[in-house]
Amino acid sequence: MDDSAARAYELGFRSLDRELSERTLPVEGEIPEWLSGALIRNGPGSFEFGGRRATHWFDGLALLRRYGFEEGTVTYTNRFLRTDAYKKAARGDGASQFASGGGSLRQALRWLRSFGPPESTDNANVHVARFGEHYVALTEAPRRIAFDPTTLETRGEFRWRDDLPEHLTTAHFRVDPHRNETIGYSTELGRSPAYHLYRVPNDRPSRELIASVPAEGPGYIHDCSITESYVVLVETPLRTAVLRALLPHSEGLLGMLEYDENRRSRFVIVDRETGSVEADPRVSPFFTFHHVNAFERDGGIVLDLVGFEDDAIVEALTFEALSGDAFEGAPNGRLLRYRIDPETEAVDRSRRYDGGCELPTVPRSVRARPYRYAYGQVTDRPGANGLAKIDIERETATEWWERGVYVEEPRTVQRPDGTDEDDGVVLAPALDTKRDRSMLLVFDAETLTELARAPLPHAVPFGFHGRFFPEL
Ligand SMILES: [Fe+2]
Repeated sequence: MDDSAARAYELGFRSLDRELSERTLPVEGEIPEWLSGALIRNGPGSFEFGGRRATHWFDGLALLRRYGFEEGTVTYTNRFLRTDAYKKAARGDGASQFASGGGSLRQALRWLRSFGPPESTDNANVHVARFGEHYVALTEAPRRIAFDPTTLETRGEFRWRDDLPEHLTTAHFRVDPHRNETIGYSTELGRSPAYHLYRVPNDRPSRELIASVPAEGPGYIHDCSITESYVVLVETPLRTAVLRALLPHSEGLLGMLEYDENRRSRFVIVDRETGSVEADPRVSPFFTFHHVNAFERDGGIVLDLVGFEDDAIVEALTFEALSGDAFEGAPNGRLLRYRIDPETEAVDRSRRYDGGCELPTVPRSVRARPYRYAYGQVTDRPGANGLAKIDIERETATEWWERGVYVEEPRTVQRPDGTDEDDGVVLAPALDTKRDRSMLLVFDAETLTELARAPLPHAVPFGFHGRFFPEL
């Protein structure tokens, strides 16, 4: 077994209880003076509840982490969301967890039958978003927690003022920088399952329905894509098997998911203006969590995503599977490009990067537009997770990795007066197993050379997703 992998498992999935506020971090190297704003990330921070340990990475209690940038300096704040789940865990009676715990979906089903209010978990540990003036922590259960974007203090539950059905929702909203709106969706289970697609205008924290599309499966859909005219959902063979929740040993969401090898994957292409389904071509089965980007070209749709052969990645993220070698035994995602002709429903597929990758991102100015560069975590290095800048057009890549360093999700920040898509920096938190602590890495987005690293005073468990907010 690789020593750094064993250390990564030990540190990256170890509960943290220390909260820090506005701690100025030492900087090795130089952070550009122009970088101003805050990277706010979400992820699990604690895995122990009343003497029991969570069984899946997705189950830890939500811990927000904030990196604030100003004139070449960086401060660090971390704070647990004070949710019902957190309070229950603090009392030692176990958290009502989403992925594999008390079964929020079982409760959602109860709601289906009883028409009472849903009681799903509020452990919003997956992502963050901004709706109007509200900064909100998100999970896939339909509960959202507002927080203060400076102190990370919990402000309470954020509720939409509509009655859009949602038994599952997305934690991945697609911000369209060209249209002043954000696109999201929910999944309605039950007798007539559907995906409800909606927009949230930037200046108004309310949802406007774009379309309700009949679901097949229904599929478990983690992310979506937008182009100038369309929203694209990918319905994979990983289905939400509602009846499995009623089995005696069913465990939350993960216990309900079922990979049906006889199904194909379906692309659902919805017109953003009219709400009509323009096409829904089917292709050979595959699974995906995360989309990279999408755009229109020559009447067709180009969709880039991180694809897996099947759903083995979901099981691979249980502690039982991760134990000892961190992520080394997990299947690698591949950066795939699908070209879809909405007229003929013809689809072709090509691989754009040879390595394993996950947690992709693209610069803000090219989202939903033709682009050239994607950034993502490299997952196939021994005793490390690296970082890649992938030239999607030329199918080449620039990579950075260091033994014993586990890079998390990168985010790009473009230089305010820059014109090139890759003029700016890449921010990536990482776990440094050689020094038993986490750090924030800053790279030049053009060359992927390291500009600075800012060590934290402790090791933070591996997180999921975050966003850079320039206004903070
Ligand atoms: Fe995700």
